[in-house]
Amino acid sequence: MTEATWERRHVLSLADFTAAELETVTQTAVSFRDVLSRRTRKVPALQGLVVTNMFFEPSTRTRSSFELAAKRLSADVLNFAPGTSSLTKGETILDTAKTYLAMGTNLMVIRHQDAGVPQTIADEMDRLQSGVGVLNGGDGLHAHPSQALLDLFTLALSLNPDQPTSQALAGLKIAIVGDILHSRVARSNLWALTACGADVHLAAPPTLLPPGFAEAFMRQSPLPIHRQVVQHSRLAPALENADFVMTLRLQKERMTQHRLPSLREYHAEFGLTRNRLNACEPNVKLLHPGPTNRGVEISSDLMDDPALSLISEQVTNGVAVRMALLYLMGVGKGE
Ligand code: NCD
Repeated sequence: MTEATWERRHVLSLADFTAAELETVTQTAVSFRDVLSRRTRKVPALQGLVVTNMFFEPSTRTRSSFELAAKRLSADVLNFAPGTSSLTKGETILDTAKTYLAMGTNLMVIRHQDAGVPQTIADEMDRLQSGVGVLNGGDGLHAHPSQALLDLFTLALSLNPDQPTSQALAGLKIAIVGDILHSRVARSNLWALTACGADVHLAAPPTLLPPGFAEAFMRQSPLPIHRQVVQHSRLAPALENADFVMTLRLQKERMTQHRLPSLREYHAEFGLTRNRLNACEPNVKLLHPGPTNRGVEISSDLMDDPALSLISEQVTNGVAVRMALLYLMGVGKGE
């Protein structure tokens, strides 16, 4: 198993991930995918370690996937649910994190509706010299690194099922369509995809993709960017000759104003339908991080078409990729 390019204690964002690190995660996930296809589906890699899931915001896939990944690595798993916790009695998030530290937690997976919470907890864990690694399970609009890494792995696997590599993305055109403004998934994908040499085309109505968004976002990059990110206020130019199309959910819970005339109108302008895919490359494949609004951002028949949709593969691959992350962050933390 490759650990050559791995120095990180925390994974909070992909902004500063190098192509080599992305490939390390990809190759480690390849090994764990093999483990998951075996009869026992379990390895003792993190035996004795405690992984705590702290999800302050609803989640189906990410939370369950991290839990299963930790269990497949033989770690002990604690699941924190805010509604039934001492948070309801006024305990602060940092005190909650310290409580789990006192129970011997080695790795924390944190999701929160506010950007920066995983970073704050990571800083506190470092200040206490705890050695705990913090993994961002999605924070506000900021980042969702494990989702972008599983998307990357799914793309690599789709391009070359026998020898998946993130390097195969170089030169491809990937369209990301939908509620980009509210999407931490889109933001994390922008870092990962461009680092692998793909061209990313964003498409959304201007209320969900303000003019200058892509340029301003990519200007924050701590690493040199070699690929361009192009934004469109119409769907057609983004789909033209695209190798992959990723659609995003309309995040109604994060919309502070009425940003769309109606869902029906959105579907008419930006919804993915079979007809519209004719403009893409003949072998185009579709991704969606889930959860989906069927018939809004993507038509129901496309979602369920195994020849086109990688959506359930994304979910399956999520376990191997999260095993890879927990493994890379966790080795050496045990005895
Ligand atoms: C995404 C999230 O929570 O950021 N979902 C996920 O983790 N699979 C995207 C979304 O909520 O639309």
